[in-house]
Amino acid sequence: MKTKHVIDLDSLSTEELMEIIELANDIRQAPQEYSDVCKGKILATLFYEPSTRTQMSFKTAMLRLGGNIIGFDNPQNSSVSKGESLKDTVTVVGGYADIIAIRHSLEGAAKAASLYSAAPVINAGDGGHLHPTQTLTDVVTLYNEKGTLDNMTIGLCGDLKNGRTVHSLIKTMSHFKGNRFVLISTPELTVPQYIKDIMNASGCRYTEVRSLAEAIPSLDVLYMTRIQRERFRSFEEYEKQRGVFVLDREKMCLARRDMKILHPLPRVDEIAEDVDYDDRAKYFDQTVYGMYARMALIMKMLENADRKPMPRVADTHSVRCSNPNCISYTEEYLPRIFRPLGGDMLLCRYCEGRNLI
Ligand code: CP
Repeated sequence: MKTKHVIDLDSLSTEELMEIIELANDIRQAPQEYSDVCKGKILATLFYEPSTRTQMSFKTAMLRLGGNIIGFDNPQNSSVSKGESLKDTVTVVGGYADIIAIRHSLEGAAKAASLYSAAPVINAGDGGHLHPTQTLTDVVTLYNEKGTLDNMTIGLCGDLKNGRTVHSLIKTMSHFKGNRFVLISTPELTVPQYIKDIMNASGCRYTEVRSLAEAIPSLDVLYMTRIQRERFRSFEEYEKQRGVFVLDREKMCLARRDMKILHPLPRVDEIAEDVDYDDRAKYFDQTVYGMYARMALIMKMLENADRKPMPRVADTHSVRCSNPNCISYTEEYLPRIFRPLGGDMLLCRYCEGRNLI
């Protein structure tokens, strides 16, 4: 792999992505052949935010490859609780481990970590921004369950504003030919502008709709998501959005026989429990594909990883990102790095938020 860190799957070429998918499938067929390929290597999991699947599947992946694991799943049990900065924690852990998976509640935290780590960094979810290894999980699932990554009508339903898995999946599936997106949400929870810009730039067709029942008959894939309670300013605002979209057996009667249901999980109330027994429901299989996907990713990243610390990164602009959920807004020592968008607009390199100069 050419890239050292995986912050966004966009840093991988389509060929590299397909190699990971193929390797994940090879491991799934014959796991015993890979049981000591990471012997002597250490994965650190730095989870500043709760997780069941991502954290445990990363740990299981490394253990099944014969490696070892360190880390924390609650920053209150680490020196983060004494005020240690992300930079210092990552600099230290990058000296202990061969590879780091980091989850954080702030957008751009994995990108920030990659600026200070000698070890390769994997983004295991950064606030409402991206979740590339969930997307790896999703594409391995789709490739196996649909037999292709092209020419699909993909419905995404729920919290499309805060759902980082949705953003990462759209970004990646936009690179494959002929995919079309049906975005099913309330007006308050539509995808951010930068995701619309990506779909427009790639020529992908998309529609925004308000009814799951009306959208479902046309779909090859339905990607359900929960409303992300932890990203709302108040419980009242969350309550207004909760329960608007529920997939139940009635709606499944409107869907095609070969439609597949994916969900990154955790589920709250957006899929009725009895849908679990429909053979089109693939969300629990998806969690197992995710473990093999992460095994493949760890192997590929460790193949030719260097341990050189990143050179100091300079500010590209004097402004500070205006997004209060951006890591650079909180950790003020971080370099102010932006990409010019033309006119008075700058794109923050951490959170991809637009900033007016
Ligand atoms: N899909 C996912 O990221 O689940 P966790 O939050 O449990 O890791």
